[in-house]
Amino acid sequence: MASSRNPLDELRETLGNLADQIKLPGSDRGDDRVGELFNARPGPARPLAEVQAELDALVGLESVKEQVRALVALLQVQARRKAHGLPEVATSQHLVFLGNPGTGKTTVARLLAEMYRAVGLLQKGHLVEVDRSALVGQYVGATAMKTDRVIRRALDGVLFIDEAYALFPDDGRMDFGPEAIEVLLKRMEDHRHRLVVIVAGYPRLMESFLLSNPGLRSRFAREITFPDYSVDALETIFKQMLAQHEYTLEAGADQMLRRILANIHAGEDSGNARFARTLFEQSLNRQALRLSRDEGRSLDTLDRDDVMTLTTDDLVEAAQALGEVPEPEPQAPAAPHPSRWNWRNWP
Ligand SMILES: Nc1ncnc2c1ncn2[C@@H]1O[C@H](COP(=O)(O)OP(=O)(O)OP(=O)(O)O)[C@@H](O)[C@H]1O
Ligand SMILES: [Mg+2]
Repeated sequence: MASSRNPLDELRETLGNLADQIKLPGSDRGDDRVGELFNARPGPARPLAEVQAELDALVGLESVKEQVRALVALLQVQARRKAHGLPEVATSQHLVFLGNPGTGKTTVARLLAEMYRAVGLLQKGHLVEVDRSALVGQYVGATAMKTDRVIRRALDGVLFIDEAYALFPDDGRMDFGPEAIEVLLKRMEDHRHRLVVIVAGYPRLMESFLLSNPGLRSRFAREITFPDYSVDALETIFKQMLAQHEYTLEAGADQMLRRILANIHAGEDSGNARFARTLFEQSLNRQALRLSRDEGRSLDTLDRDDVMTLTTDDLVEAAQALGEVPEPEPQAPAAPHPSRWNWRNWP
């Protein structure tokens, strides 16, 4: 989704544009240099078991974990067959991730890329995450160049295209998106041993995207569905963040946390795990403000408990800052609903 861009990605794009401008006709060196600069040393591959353990530690997502396990097992068996001199069955590794925003698609794609590296399918196993704007140009010829550049960056790793259906606007206007799809399909074929493509987005829009071009359906044969998180799962995710960063909730704040999480409705706009994360981050802001406003005390005298504890009020104010108002207690008058906070713009 339109998350704020990584400064490294921006730098990479600027260098890529510069490389295009200084490139001699027919030469790829400039672009390759940019690719080398950013992807050259991905560090040693992590053992498969370690990456698998990280995947297993994610809250919920049982069916996703099961499908990833099956994918990796198939690759391992094929590798063993090859070692025994048996023919490999070439299967397409390109995937469709169906799920609402914040359901863990990028997180799983990154781990899957590492697993592919660990089992020897990909040499680098990095993840290049893009949306329409990185692939589609404004004028004739620009799209093929941009898409090619992105693909070169992704070679030996995973290319993750978020909101892929944006490449195929259904309002009939003239658009270069389909050109990007054509280039992508061609390069997937040219580099079939060096590139895994994952297209991702809202379930209801992905189907028409896959039907928009006959080549797409056949190349993306496998679909993995990321369900919305339950309130219990969101609570566990929030509490994992607390534990990981050594924060605690004051007594009784648990109930408020559940009320806030129960109030965000499952679906395309809920924000899912991303909401849990931003709620946590906002709560830290609120705690800091509360502590700094305590006129009786200087910040220097705060003890360990003070700086570790998030209160019910911290949670309420954080939720309000995010445009979510916890359901009022039955006897209290209904609070006005402020304009919804747009969590998509959150980093
Ligand atoms: N199962 C999970 N357990 C713990 N944290 C999670 C889980 N799923 C997602 N998160 C956290 O939630 C945030 C959003 O996840 P992620 O970016 O992977 O979702 P996404 O589906 O790619 O969302 P978007 O569509 O908005 O890009 C991240 O901070 C991630 O660490
Ligand atoms: Mg994502």
